[in-house]
Amino acid sequence: MHQKMKRFKDKICLVTGGGSGIGKSTALSFATEGGKVVVCDINGEKAQETKNEILNNGGDAIAITLDISDHEAVQKAVQQTVETYGRLDCAANIAGVAGPVSKKIHEYPIDSWHQQINVNLTGTWYCMKYELEQMLVNGGGNIVNLSSAAGLLAQPENSPYAASKHGIVGLTRTAAKEYATDNIRANAICPTAIETPMIMEGRRKLAHDKKAKREAIEFQAMKRMGRPQEIADVILWLCSDQSSFITGVAMVADGGALA
Ligand SMILES: NC(=O)c1ccc[n+]([C@@H]2O[C@H](COP(=O)([O-])OP(=O)(O)OC[C@H]3O[C@@H](n4cnc5c(N)ncnc54)[C@H](O)[C@@H]3O)[C@@H](O)[C@H]2O)c1
Repeated sequence: MHQKMKRFKDKICLVTGGGSGIGKSTALSFATEGGKVVVCDINGEKAQETKNEILNNGGDAIAITLDISDHEAVQKAVQQTVETYGRLDCAANIAGVAGPVSKKIHEYPIDSWHQQINVNLTGTWYCMKYELEQMLVNGGGNIVNLSSAAGLLAQPENSPYAASKHGIVGLTRTAAKEYATDNIRANAICPTAIETPMIMEGRRKLAHDKKAKREAIEFQAMKRMGRPQEIADVILWLCSDQSSFITGVAMVADGGALA
């Protein structure tokens, strides 16, 4: 779609969760538009696959095996980015997990609470901490965090996911205020159902549950799920100069669901 646009020519773009779904589409899109991409994922093989796809298409990328809930590893990933490419311009913090169970708060397993909070919320904060440190050295930058419609609304039987995604909105708004005069913008995106391995094969197993899939489709006014590329397109726009007066928003991408 943006084949002729090169909004990210020579920009250094770090993507977490770059091995799959929304993160993979985002990494490939940055590369298509001239960005040098740092593909980070806890699944190192998948990160390598995305990197190889970028290189095969004539782009520039490195892959880093990274667990965002490990702060030393996050700090090293940002260091490796700067050692390789000299700076950091854009960061798309997309990596996240959704719990395997569907239970109300009083029944919810404590270990699953900690896992989702550790990755989605604490992990995103670690990423922002070290990305922002480097962007201050650069003299500017752009951060986009992946929240969810569950960052704005209740998600019954998925309390840690909703809490972690609400937390991401709070972090994003706070960063927007803290760094607004440092030429650094921070925005969040809040999608409803996007057709990726997370919901097709993960917790909700929509690929195998026709009723759940129908419900997921019905939630959107457009009566379809979103595509990863449709979220990548918004992330790139929020990272580009085309959105230069926008910071601190939690933007829905929901096929009209919340309308
Ligand atoms: N798919 C949806 O319907 C939907 C809707 C709203 C929000 N989201 C959010 O979008 C983001 C991307 O999800 P997706 O649907 O593309 O899922 P996905 O499962 O296809 O991709 C998530 C990626 O994150 C990686 N990851 C998981 N834990 C990690 C960790 N600790 N450190 C680094 N990488 C890690 C996984 O290996 C995977 O490659 C998530 O934050 C998710 O919560 C998804």
